Amino acid sequence: MYYPEEVIEDVRIRNDIVEVASSYIKLERKGRRYFALCPFHGEKTASFCIEPTKQFFYCFGCNKGGSVIHFIMDIENLEFVDALKFLADRAGITLPEPNDNREKEKTRIRKKILEANKEAARFFFSNLASSSGVEAQGYLKKRNLTEKAIKQFGIGFALQEKDALTNYLLNKGMSKGLLLDAGLSTETKDGYLIDRFRGRIMFPIFDIRGNTIGFGGRALGDIQPKYLNSPDTLAFNKRRELYGLNYARLSKSKKLLIVEGYLDVISLHQGGIDYAVASLGTALTQSQAWLLKKYADEVIFCYDSDTAGQAATLRGLEILEKSGCNVRVLLLPDGKDPDEYIKNNGSEKFKNLVERAISLLEYKIKVQQRKHNVDNIDDKIKLLNSIAEVLAEHDNEVEIELYTEAYAEQYGISRDSLEKEINKVRNNQKQNSGKYIQNRSNYSMGNRQPSITSVDPRYGELEYILLLTLCNENRLYQTVSQSYGLDDFKDSGAKLVARKVYERLSENKSCVLGELLNELDSQQAAYMVRLSETKCKLDDCEKAVEQIINKLLLYTLEEEQKLTFERIKNEQDGDIRKELAVEFSERAEKIAELKRFA
Ligand code: UTP
Ligand code: MN
Repeated sequence: MYYPEEVIEDVRIRNDIVEVASSYIKLERKGRRYFALCPFHGEKTASFCIEPTKQFFYCFGCNKGGSVIHFIMDIENLEFVDALKFLADRAGITLPEPNDNREKEKTRIRKKILEANKEAARFFFSNLASSSGVEAQGYLKKRNLTEKAIKQFGIGFALQEKDALTNYLLNKGMSKGLLLDAGLSTETKDGYLIDRFRGRIMFPIFDIRGNTIGFGGRALGDIQPKYLNSPDTLAFNKRRELYGLNYARLSKSKKLLIVEGYLDVISLHQGGIDYAVASLGTALTQSQAWLLKKYADEVIFCYDSDTAGQAATLRGLEILEKSGCNVRVLLLPDGKDPDEYIKNNGSEKFKNLVERAISLLEYKIKVQQRKHNVDNIDDKIKLLNSIAEVLAEHDNEVEIELYTEAYAEQYGISRDSLEKEINKVRNNQKQNSGKYIQNRSNYSMGNRQPSITSVDPRYGELEYILLLTLCNENRLYQTVSQSYGLDDFKDSGAKLVARKVYERLSENKSCVLGELLNELDSQQAAYMVRLSETKCKLDDCEKAVEQIINKLLLYTLEEEQKLTFERIKNEQDGDIRKELAVEFSERAEKIAELKRFA
């Protein structure tokens, strides 16, 4: 933990979980809770909920849960400290300098890398304008790039020499370590530094604040690899960035168009389609989906239409859909990419295609239509079955009806029989999904308990419930701690939590679950929130606490009783056996008494 408790608590309190979550998902109020489709797993009915008064979230479907900090960790895919920074920023809180040296060091290096990248980008840019950049200039002209676009995107040229940039930066006083950390130089076997990028057109990659976080470099000719990118560094992770987002997020249209290449983005912006971004040579990731969602009401997907592109499109669409994005798919004719299309047809024609982008449902069906040849009866049947499958999965009934009618007509069958097929698929799915949920919940109930060495799973859950009840009703501390002290906790995970709870309460500080969550890891936090939501009765806490403690004592006595029984069986000495028998029967009475209360 790098920050003092009070700071963490301040950040938590000043970020209302309902407000924070509603910038990612659509919340609906039902009674005292808010519900939404869970952003962490795919689902069609809302099982994600927020308890505004307790300031935590919980999903009954996937069992994720925790405080607003855990929510941000999960949804932005951040470590605890980074989630904390994120929320502090959001609430306008200035965090004290971290007192953790490793974090400090990382921050320092990150800043240095950004400086080095900025210098490198300047160097590349001036190379392009110099006499060494003539061929590169010609190449860019051939690719129809305007001066304005070259300036806007900071396009440059990496010289062919093996250490031009390295020497330039070393002369500016930068260290070898920094050039390696930034991924601008690589080390030869003999320990010399040489430039990573040589003889390439350079595309700086900016983050939304305009920092140069990395580069993509395109070969001038048919040299492999066609593109060479910065490696992941402390400042750059290609799975989390979108090329062009620094400009696209400022676009007046509320859309984002996601394409595959650097040059596609540039051609599009140049043609007035200023809401284009590109993923950086990887399939679309969850973090990128969140980023898109954050900046756009609608995402238009435009990847290559070859088979690989098609698979990537379907996967990407699925991720976007799960993230709650409105998506449409733009199809380009005959395997062209946006840059080639614009070169041949102009950007106005491209804008028309944007208007005609199809829905996800239509796209899924189109993929099926491409696979099958309807002149062949067998194939046609298969196609109609897959259309039924796609429609069965869809969750807008009006659209299903309209499409059912349209496709039935298109393929010359009755609407009735297509409808029957759809219902058949749905019934099958229902049966299967029932099984699935059953298996999954068995699994998660049994294994989700976070403690390392649970003595008996029965203890763990009860001990956690006891602690949760204490969090709800701090005044019960005296009663509870007298009958169930710290040493009595059997479950090691619960014991750790108990230590924190008891410590606070014994010092007359308050202890609420929301705050306690700050100190738990995600899994443990989720576990406690789940219990709190599903197994903690709030009506009569005194009674509940009494019952729990009785049960815990009962378990303990039963364990002891088992041991005594074993000892009696094995004891040779008659006197000792008698003593044990007395012990046994006394305990049996206690057990019977406890059972009467339970
Ligand atoms: P493409 O092969 O579609 O290239 O790669 P492109 O963008 O159309 O480029 P041009 O028009 O041929 O110049 C799409 C994206 O995939 C990544 C790059 O981000 C590229 O923009 N890529 C591609 C690589 O990272 N490395 C490669 O070798 C190729
Ligand atoms: Mn291209």
